[in-house]
Amino acid sequence: MDENAHVSRFPRFPPKFIWGVAGSAYQIEGGVHEHGRGESIWDRFCHTPGRIRNGENADVSCDHYHLWKSDIALMKSLGIQRYRFSLAWPRIQPLGSGAVNRHGIDFYSRIIDELLRAGIRPLPTLYHWDLPQPLQDRGGWDSRETADRFADYAAIAARAYADRCGHWLIYNEPSMFVNLGHLTGLHAPGIKDPAIAMRAGHIANIAQGKSFRAMKAVSHRLRIGSAFSMSPAHPATGSEEDRKAAERFHAWENVWYLEPALRGRYPAAIGPAPEKLLDIRAGDMEQIRAPFDFIGINNYSRAVIMHDPAFPIPFVGVRWLSGESGSKTDVQWEVFPRGLYEITMRIWHDYHVPIEITENGAAYNTPPNGEGEVPDQARIEFYDSYIRELAKAIADGADVRGYTAWSLLDNFEWTEGFTPRFGLVYIDYKTLARIPKASAKWYARLIAGQKRR
Ligand code: FCB
Repeated sequence: MDENAHVSRFPRFPPKFIWGVAGSAYQIEGGVHEHGRGESIWDRFCHTPGRIRNGENADVSCDHYHLWKSDIALMKSLGIQRYRFSLAWPRIQPLGSGAVNRHGIDFYSRIIDELLRAGIRPLPTLYHWDLPQPLQDRGGWDSRETADRFADYAAIAARAYADRCGHWLIYNEPSMFVNLGHLTGLHAPGIKDPAIAMRAGHIANIAQGKSFRAMKAVSHRLRIGSAFSMSPAHPATGSEEDRKAAERFHAWENVWYLEPALRGRYPAAIGPAPEKLLDIRAGDMEQIRAPFDFIGINNYSRAVIMHDPAFPIPFVGVRWLSGESGSKTDVQWEVFPRGLYEITMRIWHDYHVPIEITENGAAYNTPPNGEGEVPDQARIEFYDSYIRELAKAIADGADVRGYTAWSLLDNFEWTEGFTPRFGLVYIDYKTLARIPKASAKWYARLIAGQKRR
């Protein structure tokens, strides 16, 4: 295939549209014991036998803690316009409350300065799942104290970086850290308790509202959103039951942390708000509001949904099946490009708030060939097809401001350890060498092609 010709035929995006890449602190940094960083629930989880595939952990990972400067140079060489990264709360506030660690503040400060020098806009995420362990020891997301500590931390971060970072994300995928962490127990802190999961979700919502206001109090000019994991829900059959189940899935997985923020209520599809189960108290539904300046959508696939009363949370009552019409990536997620169009249109239609695609990408474990190149054609096709669907959503009226590829680097993929490779850049975990894959070069050409027009 003539890849250049391909990119030049690419749909035209709005002139101010921003092309970015993403990563997150725990997944790439390593350096877990350096310069006063505290322990996070993911350090504890990874060092608990049996939790992570092959017993791996992210103590070193991509060693971005030491290699950040050359990683930024690499982004610059690819023409990346924005870098979405996360701040490790335990680096900034090792105990999750009280003393601030100057070294942690300075680490991200240097990264932000270097990004700006390279002409790359920083997009920090406050929380990409690495809760300080001392807060977990006092109840974690099942304790209302965590919401207050999170708001304190949000203000600390905003005071440190608001002069250089105009756009922020509060959370990465609250439905994932709440449900995988407290319902299925597959992620840290490894709790498997529906009652806790329901309460923790409500407290995460309160924390989102509080942190939003805490940051705006530092500077009302900050533009603040959260990144939500969203998969368009398709009913498994034409039955009324499955159709309603798909709506409940949308409520529980896609907008459970968005509808309360924007509308001060839980989504109607689940029926009357289950106040007792969520432990909703007086004043909570005001606290929960966070009138976002933009909505972050993380999309990878779609969800095929069946009604299932056996789901451990009664008002949800769904079973999530994998779709079978598209091919599968190496983590068995269905490739379903149209889903990015569908979810973007739905969120635009329902909320009319500007949208950023904050994650989209695929795991393909293509290794380097004899010439030291990584010919990941499948990833190129994935990105190509999803980005074309995004262009259609924009043409159909959705106000989408930017696109973020997950991920810049291969990295630590949570419970799956280092097996799935989502990067545009290959990491040799023995030597820590970075090898831009064919997809990185393709993405660089796409960005350059959009700029030239
Ligand atoms: C998302 C997470 C991100 C990464 C990708 C593959 O759910 O936000 O950290 O794990 O999936």
